[in-house]
Amino acid sequence: MIFNEITPIRHILSPDFADYKIVTVAGWVRSVRKGKQFSFVAMNDGTTQENFQIVVDQKVSNYEEVSSLLLGSSVQFKGQLVKSQGKGQAVEMQAMEAKVICRTTEEYPLQKKSTSYEYLREVAHLRPRTQTFGAVFRLRSILSFATHEFFTKRGFYYLNSPIITAVDAEGAGEMFNVTTLDLNKLPTTEGRIDYSKDYFGKKTNLTVSGQLAGECFAMGLGKVYTFGPTFRSENSNTARHLAEFWMIEPEVSFADLDDMADLGSAYVKYLITAALTHGQKEMEFLDKLAKEQGENLLSNLELVRDREFVRITYTDAVEIIKKSGAKFEYPCDWGLELQTEHEKYLTDVHFKGPVIVTDYPKHCKAFYMKQNPDGKTVRAMDILVPGVGEIIGGSQREDDFQKLMTRVDELKMNKEALWWYFDLRRFGSVPHAGFGLGLERAVMYITGMKNIRDVIPFPRTPKSADF
Ligand code: 4AD
Ligand code: MG
Repeated sequence: MIFNEITPIRHILSPDFADYKIVTVAGWVRSVRKGKQFSFVAMNDGTTQENFQIVVDQKVSNYEEVSSLLLGSSVQFKGQLVKSQGKGQAVEMQAMEAKVICRTTEEYPLQKKSTSYEYLREVAHLRPRTQTFGAVFRLRSILSFATHEFFTKRGFYYLNSPIITAVDAEGAGEMFNVTTLDLNKLPTTEGRIDYSKDYFGKKTNLTVSGQLAGECFAMGLGKVYTFGPTFRSENSNTARHLAEFWMIEPEVSFADLDDMADLGSAYVKYLITAALTHGQKEMEFLDKLAKEQGENLLSNLELVRDREFVRITYTDAVEIIKKSGAKFEYPCDWGLELQTEHEKYLTDVHFKGPVIVTDYPKHCKAFYMKQNPDGKTVRAMDILVPGVGEIIGGSQREDDFQKLMTRVDELKMNKEALWWYFDLRRFGSVPHAGFGLGLERAVMYITGMKNIRDVIPFPRTPKSADF
């Protein structure tokens, strides 16, 4: 009914706008300043970072009603667009008609004072109306679109991998079960749960990664990427872990780890460029927030966009960390996992930029990774970025049937569930490689947000699945 008659504020405030006519806008009040003859309403409709100013003359019939509106009220204005007299905006509206759609009261939870990120998580249903969350979620959308653009331009096909599966793609056991069995009356055979009675006739779980499906399709379509939700029941209550997160996983046939390092850094640079180009106002706003914390968001991202990513092996990384003389909580030695603090040292202190670490000890990584001739390491890579740490994890895959079998046996894995995956190595196996980028980690990095709970609409974390 009215949607087609409403002009998006993004359109009115675009730099090349010069269409001074009568239009209708609709949105939510950010502030009202009441004067003697005029009231000034700043409103936002979510299409853009900037507020739009409406000048309401006291001749407008419901002037008093409009002038007393509180933050968050929904409104619709019809009026003449004019060049703005005031500073801060190029165009404003002189209202001819004002319609109050729904007033807020003092009870509206988003008052100007009470807007810490912790508080906003408690009212996550309303936080999309704040400037910060508007910026973050417009950028999240821009980065998602840029992802499809990046891979499509390079000849990749978009693949929807299953969400319910019977395999543990990472072999780490961090899965959420999927069942229709009555948990109060579980069927058992010889004391164990009888999953043959379950919906799928076997034990199933939410996927931790779409990679294995990606490998099957890369063997047929050449280059594919998945982009979907993934689920991990790891009990990590940190600012970088979610139980439900979105992952982008390219998989490429006839490719090795160096190809993935190239592809991964090009992809991260493409995301940065997309944010700076299509989310300029949002990035300027977030840069201001970062500067309040003494950080340079924009200039750092511009540097990263224009610079080669450093590449080092895990072995060299351990040497650098050990020689640094810096104090760490956890030990660092060859064979141990690199802890967050070690990764942070590499990106934030030593290299002051993104780092690609390759060739990790095989026991630190998943079963499917290509084994190096040294017998100790695998062709794995992690791309680490300042402030966030690991943003990409990937590898060249073990394409040799015998070597993969030996590794699976060493790890005492259940081979039955993966028979189809092993078939890829029996029939027309080729060198192939891929990686996964955590969308939320990328959004954190590019927006400068410090907690992963603030870059996904409704975060799922241990003991929390609200909204
Ligand atoms: O390093 P990960 O576990 O790698 C895989 O899942 C591989 N199957 C990817 C592949 O080769 N196709 O996860 C990949 C990325 C991480 O680098 C991180 O950005 C993100 O996924 N990630 C998480 N993000 C939020 N919360 C979690 N709990 C995450 N776990 C991983
Ligand atoms: Mg990883």
